[in-house]
Amino acid sequence: MTVVGLGLPSVATISSAPATSAPADGPLIDTFGRIATDLRVSLTDRCNLRCTYCMPAEGLDWLESDRLLRPAELTRLLRIAVTRLGITSVRFTGGEPLVAKHLEDVIAATSSLRPRPEITLTTNGVGLARRAEALKRAGLRRINVSLDTVDPTRFAAITRRDRLSDVLAGLAAAKAAGLDPVKVNAVLDPETGLDDAVALLRFCLEHGYQLRIIEQMPLDAGHAWERGRALSADDILATLQQHFDLTPDTAPRGSAPAELWQVGGGGTVGIIASVSHAFCSACDRTRLTADGQVRNCLFARQETDLRLLMRSGADDAAVEAAWRAAMWAKAAGHGINDPGFVQPDRPMSAIGG
Ligand code: 5AD
Ligand code: SF4
Repeated sequence: MTVVGLGLPSVATISSAPATSAPADGPLIDTFGRIATDLRVSLTDRCNLRCTYCMPAEGLDWLESDRLLRPAELTRLLRIAVTRLGITSVRFTGGEPLVAKHLEDVIAATSSLRPRPEITLTTNGVGLARRAEALKRAGLRRINVSLDTVDPTRFAAITRRDRLSDVLAGLAAAKAAGLDPVKVNAVLDPETGLDDAVALLRFCLEHGYQLRIIEQMPLDAGHAWERGRALSADDILATLQQHFDLTPDTAPRGSAPAELWQVGGGGTVGIIASVSHAFCSACDRTRLTADGQVRNCLFARQETDLRLLMRSGADDAAVEAAWRAAMWAKAAGHGINDPGFVQPDRPMSAIGG
C-alpha cells in the first residue's frame, strides 16, 4: 500500500491495475484505488430544525418506520463494516441524530466492536446539553455541532426555529463532558455569511471550539442551490484575513478535507472548499442511510439496498460483497462543476453529512 500526495488531502491507495469486479477481501476499495475507512451513518432523516439550505419549512415526507433499519440490523451492519471491511471511524449523522432515541445504545454497541473504531457525531446541538455526558460515557470521543451564526435573529431566520440558546448550551455541555475537540460546522448564508463568519470565529476562539466553514453544496430538498450564489472558500478566507492574522497550518492533512489556518493569538479555523476545490480524489468515505442503503458518494445517483438483502436472509458474506460492489462503482468525483451535473434525489437530511 502507498499513500499518494495529490497536492490535496491524501488518502491511502493501492496502486495496481483495476480488476473488473470488487476484490472479495482486503480494504474497501474503488476502481480509482481509493480506500474507504470512514463510515457515515444517518440514523434518521428527521430533524427539529428547518435550515433553509436543507429543508422546506413544512419538513419532508419522512421515511416510514418499517423502512428504517432496526437497531439489530444497524448493529449488524456496523459489525460487518468494522470487522470485515476495514472501517476505522464511524460518524453518526442525520437528519438530526439526537432525534434518534437509540443513539447512546448505538454508540455503545459501536464502541464495543474490535478493533474499536473512532466514534464521532454531527449534530445541530438541540437537546445536546441533556445528553452530552451520556454520549461521552457510551463511547463518543469527538463532536461536530452545526452552527451558522451566533446572531439570534439570523439563527432563527436560517433554521426557522428560535433555538440558538439550546445550541450554545449544547456546545458548552459537550466541552464540559470532555468531548475533544468540539468542532463547529458552519454553512454560510450567501447574504449575511461573511459577517457571520467573523463573529463565529471570535466566538469559537473565545470558547475553545474549532470552527470549520463548509461551502454550501447542492443538496437542498428544494433544488434551489445556484452556481455562483453560495460563498466560496476564497471569499470567506479573504474576509477572515481582514480581521484575523491567519497562517497556513503545515501539519499533514491526511484525508481531512478542511484547509486549516492558524489564527494569531491561538486557535485554528478550517475552510472546506467542497465545491470550488473538490477533494474527491482523497475521499475515504462510505455512507449508510437510515433506511439501509449504501451510498458511495454524497452525490451518488445509485444506492445499494442492504436492508432488503438482510431481510431476505443474506448472510454476512453476501452483505459484505454487496457493500464492496457498491464502493467499487464509486465515480471519480461529484461532478458539481460539470455542465451535465444532476443533483441527487435525496436531500442532505436523508443522506447524512
Ligand atoms: N451544503 C453543505 N453542508 C451542508 N450541511 C447541510 N446541508 C448542506 C449543504 N447543502 C451540513 C450541515 C451539517 C452537516 C451534516 O452538513 O450544516 O453540519
Ligand atoms: Fe436539520 Fe441539519 Fe438539515 Fe439543518 S441542515 S434542517 S439541522 S438536518
